[in-house]
Amino acid sequence: MYKAGTISKYLKSQASLNLLRFITCGSVDDGKSTLIGRMLYESQMIFDDQVASLKNDSKKYGTQGENIDFALLVDGLSAEREQGITIDVAYRFFSSSKKKFIVADTPGHEQYTRNMATGASTAELAILLVDARNGILTQTKRHSFIVSLLGIKNIVLAINKMDLVNYDKNIYEKINSEYKLFSKKLNFKNIQSIPISALKGDNIHKKSKYMKWYNDKTLFDYLETTKTKIQSSDSFVLPVQSVNRPNLNFRGYSGTIAEGKIRKGDELISLPSNQKVKVKDIFVGERSLKTANLKQSITLTIDKEIDTSRGDILCSKNSTVDMADQFNVNVIWMSEDKGFTGRTYLAKIHNISTSIKIMSIKKIYDVNTLEFSAGNELKLNDVAEISISFNKTVPFSTFKENKILGSFIIIDPINNQTMGMGMINFSLRRSQNIQLQNLAINKNLREKINGHKGQVLWMTGLSGSGKSTIANEVEKILYSQGKKTYILDGDNIRHGLNKDLGFTDKDRVENIRRVAEVAKLMCDAGLIVITAFISPFRLEREMARSLFEKNDFKEIYISTPLKVAEKRDPKGLYKKARQGKIPNFTGIDSIYEKPTNPELEIDTSKVSLSKAVKKILNIIT
Ligand code: ADX
Repeated sequence: MYKAGTISKYLKSQASLNLLRFITCGSVDDGKSTLIGRMLYESQMIFDDQVASLKNDSKKYGTQGENIDFALLVDGLSAEREQGITIDVAYRFFSSSKKKFIVADTPGHEQYTRNMATGASTAELAILLVDARNGILTQTKRHSFIVSLLGIKNIVLAINKMDLVNYDKNIYEKINSEYKLFSKKLNFKNIQSIPISALKGDNIHKKSKYMKWYNDKTLFDYLETTKTKIQSSDSFVLPVQSVNRPNLNFRGYSGTIAEGKIRKGDELISLPSNQKVKVKDIFVGERSLKTANLKQSITLTIDKEIDTSRGDILCSKNSTVDMADQFNVNVIWMSEDKGFTGRTYLAKIHNISTSIKIMSIKKIYDVNTLEFSAGNELKLNDVAEISISFNKTVPFSTFKENKILGSFIIIDPINNQTMGMGMINFSLRRSQNIQLQNLAINKNLREKINGHKGQVLWMTGLSGSGKSTIANEVEKILYSQGKKTYILDGDNIRHGLNKDLGFTDKDRVENIRRVAEVAKLMCDAGLIVITAFISPFRLEREMARSLFEKNDFKEIYISTPLKVAEKRDPKGLYKKARQGKIPNFTGIDSIYEKPTNPELEIDTSKVSLSKAVKKILNIIT
């Protein structure tokens, strides 16, 4: 053990060692924390006082009787200890005499795929833990698949708890060959299986005396000797994170180098503007340097004033960075909320945030067989190939070429939760061949001749809440005033344009997407458009709103309670739904998400029809 005073000397001796970043993945109870704790212990990176408190804690919280519970070294948070689980990605640093290590410890619970993906995104090697008693589980396969999607090429299959199966060679070999068969379809370069007991220390640092039949490397041997070097690149990429302008004489472009290295005097291009520039100076903090390398955070000054801002890219001419707005991507869905085609989300790709839409789901993979099938929604932990469209053209690389420029996260625009992670396979060229036509007669001119603004009154509420009745009355009055109007009504549109859609969540998303696009065209034509759709999902109503200018879209929530709507039951549908004859009926077995901030709310159980109509006429601009 090390005394605290010797630490700086120790760290100095370690400074020149190579670094290996790896991740550990496994199912709950496979023994991950124990393994990491054991590695820390055997690499002698803990101090005497820590050992003392570890022994103490082991007695108090441990699961190993009088023995040391190594997991406690790792499960540092008291909340975690009390629940007996590990909750977030934790990075641990340790080193042996030959190498430095950073390990991302990621939890094994089904719903924590997100943490695993986060941990794996910077790792060069993955240790997949398998409990020798249970063999390869679905979770092992899912983790392998995700690890391979994230471009990790080196795998250690650590077959753990060998002590609990009498160090049986046959069990080890059976698991080993099952895994080799499964992983054939994945893109791994090296797979090393090692039979271990993290708890007893077999084949971790020292060769196990109980498994003489295993003649290969111990875990430490393997980690120390394996070569995982990232190929060096002669092209340079800097995603611009900020433009640094402390005074009028200084203008620097700051960010972290995502590829290659840079020297003073190098020629670069700025994307998307495509301007050529020369590097004048390179700063790391306050210091001016001649060169800088991959992953360093730098500020560049260049030889001319150009229009470059956050989200742009400074790169060498030979880099793989390209521009596009539609992509084929692999996605890992990490949210309890399903993902649908046609739905709008936010994405963050390097330093750019923009809205995106899932255009189609091409393949959903079965993690057990690695076969795929068609699908129309993304569920928690799904891995799928989809096509996706960005709201603007962005600089990107494929994920294979560059992990930073080739990946993005998908975010729920309402609550800011991460929904998924995307990895770009290739861009879809079709978008580049379609350009917007500039037409001479525009919305403004049409509004002039109509004598009023084109706008949308978006009514939302339960079936039977009164949307169509109110829409009809409002339109009659507007018509009598000589205004140009049109009603888009759920039941009518579903007889024509949306005849192919039913009432699953996915179909409702598409229903509203089409209606919103039609409303946009009509608004552009200068009409006052009144829509009457249940439009039960907040995200689609927000998407509809986002298509219009601020004052052109008014959300009107017809908040008549379910009880009242059901009693009215004008089409007899609630009755049928209660009898189980109509599945997915809104309010019965399909959700309605109330608007949080509508321009107007009308409860027709409290307000008369004529009053409701007046309120709406009042908000028309
Ligand atoms: S939405 O949810 O996709 O916006 P939309 O407004 O187009 O629905 O259609 C709702 C109308 O379809 C209802 O007023 C009702 O007459 C009819 N309908 C038939 N089946 C259902 C159902 N399962 N849920 C809700 N409405 C249904």
